[in-house]
Amino acid sequence: MAASLVLTGPMGSGKSSLGQLLAARLDCSFIDLDAVIVNKAGKSINQIFAENGEEAFRNLESAALAELAEHADKQPGQGRVVIATGGGVVLRDENRRLLRQIGVVVNLTATLEELVGRLSGADDRPLLHGEEPPAHRLKRILSERERFYADADIRIDTTGKKLEDVLAEIIRFYQTLHK
Ligand code: S3P
Repeated sequence: MAASLVLTGPMGSGKSSLGQLLAARLDCSFIDLDAVIVNKAGKSINQIFAENGEEAFRNLESAALAELAEHADKQPGQGRVVIATGGGVVLRDENRRLLRQIGVVVNLTATLEELVGRLSGADDRPLLHGEEPPAHRLKRILSERERFYADADIRIDTTGKKLEDVLAEIIRFYQTLHK
C-alpha cells in the first residue's frame, strides 16, 4: 500500500486537478475524498456544513478516510491509488496517521494571494462563506494548519506554476522512491 500517493494542502492548492492528472499518468485509480463524502451523505459539502455543521462534516471525513485506508491497496491498477484530500483532513491526529499509512504524502502549497485569486468566485467552500473576508479567513486557516501540512514527505510550491510542471515535480519525487 505504501506506493499510493496522497495530496494534502489548502483549498485552491490544486489537489483535485493534479490528482486526476497524476492518476492518469501513473495508470491508477483516483479518489477524491470530498466526492466520497458527498456520495455517502447524498448532499453537497455546502449542505453538510449548513445542515449538520463542521463537526459532523469532520466525522464523515474521518470515517471516509478510515474506510479508504482499509481498501486503498485493493483498487484496480498496480495496487496503488492517488487520493486528493479536503484541506482540513490534516486537522485530526488520527487522520494524519491514516494518510501516512496509505502512502506518500505530498503537500501542495501556494501563497495566500495565489490561493485567494484561485478561489475567487468559488461558492463551494463553506469555510469561506462567513462574515470574515475570505482572505482573512484563509490566512488564519493557513497559519492554524501550517504545522500539520508540514507533516509530509515532500512540500511543493505551486505558486505561479503550470499544472504540468507541478505534475512533473511530483512524478520525479515519486520515482526516486519507487524505482
Ligand atoms: C475544507 C476544504 C474543502 C472541503 C471542505 C473543508 C477545509 O476541500 O473538504 O469545504 O477545511 O479546508 P478542498 O480543499 O478540496 O477545497
